Amino acid sequence: MNCKSLARILILVLAVVALAACGVEQPVDVKAITSQPKTFVGSDTCKMCHLEHYDSWKMTQHSRMIQDAKKNRDVIVVPIDEKRIRADLAKLSKKLKVPADKIYVPTVDEILYTIGSQWKQRYIVRKDGTLFISPIQYNLETHRWVNYQRRLPQHRGGFRETDLQ
Ligand code: HEC
Repeated sequence: MNCKSLARILILVLAVVALAACGVEQPVDVKAITSQPKTFVGSDTCKMCHLEHYDSWKMTQHSRMIQDAKKNRDVIVVPIDEKRIRADLAKLSKKLKVPADKIYVPTVDEILYTIGSQWKQRYIVRKDGTLFISPIQYNLETHRWVNYQRRLPQHRGGFRETDLQ
């Protein structure tokens, strides 16, 4: 057999293998996928194809960035003590745009999700059907409450519940 015909057979074999592989895989309907409303699909979706990455990610703090405070109160790392929070905020009074006694401080019951748990923690609450990051932050290293004003521009100050599911 000469080189050319060997190459032809090889190409044919590869083509058959490729076709067989296509037959086994579920056809991906790109149109159907892209016409779906864009929502947060959650890490379980990624796990299907990225098991290795998923497992290593799960072991790190990154996987605990946003936690459901309604499912588990223990994710709130510090007592939500309004008096103590306002006392800490008052120490920053010169830097505050909103006076310390006017800053919105959520109650424990209003906290739906926590953001962060190792260095700092912020709290997600719902106002008029939209989720917001409340304007307070607890710094775990200094054990101090500070104000939090920055909002993610893409969220225009709030975001949908589905962004977190
Ligand atoms: C249906 C299977 C499938 C699912 C589900 C999936 N991925 Fe992927 N992902 C892939 C494939 C295939 C690649 C391309 C790998 C390559 O080119 O080496 C990829 C690539 C990536 C990359 C780029 C990796 C790199 O090296 O640049 C990232 C990041 C990624 N995926 C994240 C995610 C996240 C996050 C999710 C869940 C929201 C997810 N993927 C869900 C199949 C999937």
